[in-house]
Amino acid sequence: MARKKLIAGNWKMNGLLADGVELAKGVAAEVKKLGRVSTVEFLVCPPATLLTSVKKALKGARVALGAQDCHFNLKGAHTGDISPAMLTDVGCSYVILGHSERRADHGESNALINKKAVSAQAEGLKAVICIGETEAQRDAGKTLEVCREQILGSVPEGSTNKKTVIAYEPVWAIGTGKTPTAADVQEVHAEIRKVLSKKLGRAVANKIQILYGGSVKPTNAKEFLSLPDVDGALIGGASLKVEDFLGIATKVL
Ligand code: 13P
Repeated sequence: MARKKLIAGNWKMNGLLADGVELAKGVAAEVKKLGRVSTVEFLVCPPATLLTSVKKALKGARVALGAQDCHFNLKGAHTGDISPAMLTDVGCSYVILGHSERRADHGESNALINKKAVSAQAEGLKAVICIGETEAQRDAGKTLEVCREQILGSVPEGSTNKKTVIAYEPVWAIGTGKTPTAADVQEVHAEIRKVLSKKLGRAVANKIQILYGGSVKPTNAKEFLSLPDVDGALIGGASLKVEDFLGIATKVL
């Protein structure tokens, strides 16, 4: 069966209550207008403060709710952290893990991301595990090597397509307006699938959605989303505007 396209918005640290609810309502209304589209899935990942109100605002629309991080423990003495159980409790079905901004700002390692993913998956969440090279690594010709290492280190053994999504986000393309060529993206995604295949078996690897992220806009979305190993997009800046987010989605309808 063909893999569905996942159009995912990562709102990052943006949105106060009123803006977040308005954005979610706008997305919900537009997705409802699309009617039954069985080949595309929608996901929004607001900041933790907005999860409950966004969940309400999305009511009745085929848009899943995700968080941007979680702890690997289900509860306990971890000040400031949020557990996978808390995320499912407020209606999340996805969690982004290992985003490059968390790797950079919070020193998250592949091993830590793996541990978080194991816990999130066990709690019934789908882990959107992010990988991607820095500009220096790319310039040094190490893109594939870095991505291989990140996949092998951060994706748990036994991961399945039901509990795992991969997002390839070259760090230098995030929020910069710069993007790799379509051929480069396809090369990396094919390599990611090859590594997943070795790690998890071909049948599972063929079903796992691999998203591209990094300056995806309505104007360049088609170029990436039509590649054979690109199964959707993880969208930052453009997910904060209903027309841009939907403008990207309509490229795969
Ligand atoms: P931009 O779309 O703003 O480049 O962000 C991409 C990203 O980091 C999504 O997780």
